[in-house]
Amino acid sequence: MTAKELRKRYLEFFEKRGHAVLPSASIIPEMDPTVLFTTAGMHPLVPFLLGQPHPQGRRLVNCQKCFRTDDIEEIGDTHHLTFFEMLGNWSLGDYFKREAIEWAMEFLTNSSEGLGLDKEKISVTVYEGDNQIPPDEEAAGIWEEVGIPRERIHFLPRAENWWGPVGDSGPCGPDTEIFVDVGLKACSPDCRPGCGCGKYIEIWNLVFMAYNQTTEREYHTLRQKNVDTGMGVERALQVINGLPSVYETDLLGPIIDKIKKIARIREVAPEQVVILRILADHIRSSVMALADDKGLVPSNVEHGYVIRRLLRIAIRKGHQLRINGPFLGDFVPTVIEILGGIYPELQRSQERVTTELAKEEKRFRSTLRRGLRICEKLLKEKGELTGKDAFMLFQSHGFPLEMTVQIAEEHGQEVDVSEFRSEFERHRQISREAAQGRFQSGLADHSEEVIQLHTATHLLHQALRRFVGQDVVQKGSNITRERTRLDVQLDRKLTEDELRQIEKWVNEMIRRDLPIKRETMSPEEALAMGAIGLFGEKYGDQVTVYSVGDVSMEICSGPHVKRTGVLGTFRITKQKRIGANTLRIRGVLEAAT
Ligand code: SER
Repeated sequence: MTAKELRKRYLEFFEKRGHAVLPSASIIPEMDPTVLFTTAGMHPLVPFLLGQPHPQGRRLVNCQKCFRTDDIEEIGDTHHLTFFEMLGNWSLGDYFKREAIEWAMEFLTNSSEGLGLDKEKISVTVYEGDNQIPPDEEAAGIWEEVGIPRERIHFLPRAENWWGPVGDSGPCGPDTEIFVDVGLKACSPDCRPGCGCGKYIEIWNLVFMAYNQTTEREYHTLRQKNVDTGMGVERALQVINGLPSVYETDLLGPIIDKIKKIARIREVAPEQVVILRILADHIRSSVMALADDKGLVPSNVEHGYVIRRLLRIAIRKGHQLRINGPFLGDFVPTVIEILGGIYPELQRSQERVTTELAKEEKRFRSTLRRGLRICEKLLKEKGELTGKDAFMLFQSHGFPLEMTVQIAEEHGQEVDVSEFRSEFERHRQISREAAQGRFQSGLADHSEEVIQLHTATHLLHQALRRFVGQDVVQKGSNITRERTRLDVQLDRKLTEDELRQIEKWVNEMIRRDLPIKRETMSPEEALAMGAIGLFGEKYGDQVTVYSVGDVSMEICSGPHVKRTGVLGTFRITKQKRIGANTLRIRGVLEAAT
């Protein structure tokens, strides 16, 4: 079955049963500023699930563009995706459990109107209950009536069978999830839907949305009882067509084929499978996000940052497949061919999306190019790339380790990765010692005052780099409730002009009430993104990166305030040279009047 056929069958099935067909809403939530992307079909419908009348009535159905970034680590397996489509039918205070389950069963098993799946392969999970909400015996009973025997009905706890809310509060409820046995061997005697081994694949979720969760985690019964269902299109196609993964479906297969063609891959080597999948997912997802009518562009904040991150990973993955020229733009027509029929914004935005992809690719490639030049020079001079070289490339130029390794390989060389690691460790040690000795580093406590000054210190650091020089690096800092003290590498005092500019800029950033974002990524990725790396913090496989709006990005273990608006007014109180190369700056925050 093709994606087109699946969507058509689903929408028609529910249209026949009194549902109004809605177009997909934007990928960016219109009415919910707390979440970056639309993560489920119900998301744009939240006000209506809470009781506001919907102009199209109480029974709705659609195919919604969804975008989830919390699964980013899982991308590359058989079924997780960043962008995906979700088919869903809704009852806004109209039908409830009985119709939802009966229709689901009919759609799944009927071969003329629905999917024609074998009833024997279907099993379900229902909510087992807790001290607040009772077990969902009602749903289990209806499942039995429509032909699912008790042994294929599993009662599972809240972690598995409760859905919502999106964000901190909103409509939610117990759900019943529908799984298809794809015929693999059981992983253990306890193998069951939800065990995660891949034998049972979840294709549809029916949520009985009867509660509103408050931010205090209290549950209030909703005025109306709703049904919210969601069937992932890609995953359903995988199951219906008996495919090994979503990447063989007609939604992703052509993208994989195109990558193979560009990378001239005839036989996919085992280690290339995941690379191809990540690349296909990230390209498709970025194109869909950029094409959205909201006109997103890659940047260092919020949505734009998510897109930038996906694209940079894609470029690196492309490089791993030895794709050396710009290639992202070539995929726009492919995505249009696959999804343009249902999402007309793809066609409308073709030019803009292609331009944005090219710009981003150019930008990131210049980092890559600089690194490549240095590698080649070193190879010419000494015939090898050492672990120390790899570290220098990484530390000073943001050039990822894996690329240095790859280039060395191309020259029949091997980078001593353990030397890279020990160099890494050595630098960490040096800064730690520095931190303990001369430059007392760190936060006195985690009081509100200290946390505020900590964020202000990031802004100060950024301002110094901006107005004094990119090489003004931080050597240490010490923050108490009264003041911040920042030591930077500089062989002179700041001029009056510089002082004024710095204070003005920091205060302007405070006034703009910029959001602070925390993220985890590999150190290589952090530096490649342009984060300022401060050794002396905990470096491991993953580092924490804090961004202040799109003006500052530092590897740092926090904590920070949520928005700069709370900081008050920043003032530099003192500057003093300590030693030939270090300037010590003290600053305070004064309460806004
Ligand atoms: N909101 C539920 C989900 O995303 C059902 O649509 O699974």
